[in-house]
Amino acid sequence: MTRTVAIVGSGYMGGGIAQVLALSGARVALSDISEEVAQKSYQRLITESRDFVSAGLFPDGATETIEKNIFAAASVEAAVADADFIVEAVPEVLEIKNDILTRISTAAPADAIIGSNTSTISIGEMAKSVTNPERFLGVHFSNPSPFIPGVEIIPHTGTSDAVVATAQEIVHETGKETAVVKDVTGFVLNRLQYALFHEATQLVEEGVATPEDIDTLVRTTFGFRLPFFGPFAIADMAGLDVYNFCYKSLQTDFPERFATPKVLSDLVDAGKLGTKTGAGFLNVPADRTPELIAYRNKAYVAMQQLMKDLGPAPLN
Ligand SMILES: NC(=O)c1ccc[n+]([C@@H]2O[C@H](COP(=O)([O-])OP(=O)(O)OC[C@H]3O[C@@H](n4cnc5c(N)ncnc54)[C@H](O)[C@@H]3O)[C@@H](O)[C@H]2O)c1
Repeated sequence: MTRTVAIVGSGYMGGGIAQVLALSGARVALSDISEEVAQKSYQRLITESRDFVSAGLFPDGATETIEKNIFAAASVEAAVADADFIVEAVPEVLEIKNDILTRISTAAPADAIIGSNTSTISIGEMAKSVTNPERFLGVHFSNPSPFIPGVEIIPHTGTSDAVVATAQEIVHETGKETAVVKDVTGFVLNRLQYALFHEATQLVEEGVATPEDIDTLVRTTFGFRLPFFGPFAIADMAGLDVYNFCYKSLQTDFPERFATPKVLSDLVDAGKLGTKTGAGFLNVPADRTPELIAYRNKAYVAMQQLMKDLGPAPLN
């Protein structure tokens, strides 16, 4: 089945999302404030795709697929008229979002799914501008969307389960992974990203380390694990009793900021200490520990090789 997609807002994110969906075989109508702007974006995406193919970042034939599957629409209304999936990627300004969502939902088929790429605006708040809001949700691609493999899916309280499932299916067809999270301020991605940034800036302000040294530590120590294991897998592997103990040390100077999370002490009290007991946050069976350790070691050596091959980022 060929998906019929419309992108509203053909800028940085909308353009990348259009490329990603076109490469997965969808027919993509690209729209913006005018046909001329959409046409310019279309040309930009073709040029960019040629560069990506030359650099080995897109597969051979990608430019032809993008050229064939994307087209510049005359207007937002024309783009969404027969779409079954619409991605809104206009600027992060509530009034612009509300206005465009009203226009989209008036012109689109009543059951077309509408996903917003907002990073920070409440999905429930924006849903008020959408007719049939059960077909509306957040579909949050990260920058640069052609190359970041995860997409945060954010239903509001009125989004239907079927809409969530179809939105995930469409994203999975592009080869990306999804995670469904609740519609809270910052969602999950930005809550976590800013929690790390917040602590990092405090360390700089306290004169504990320079931004350069903090970045080095993040990249080469705990951050080095993150492409393979999230915080819960890492905690389970380290041992939840160890985490419990570390919290107590951190509380010496920061009793409130590093109060032991209840979910952690409950697991420790129940004897669920992570992979070594076969139960923790993720319940990895204890007999799979050798396999997990072998994977971990292989991943870290491959990661180190990749960093060596690429060389340092040109930051100075
Ligand atoms: N840039 C990022 O790193 C990033 C990452 C994740 C999410 N986002 C989110 O994606 C959305 C788009 O961001 P961006 O960086 O692509 O912005 P951008 O400025 O590159 O693109 C926005 C596009 O929307 C068009 N536009 C403006 N008003 C319009 C209207 N009324 N109708 C149709 N098109 C209109 C603009 O002409 C422009 O082409 C925002 O909600 C942003 O928060 C951005």
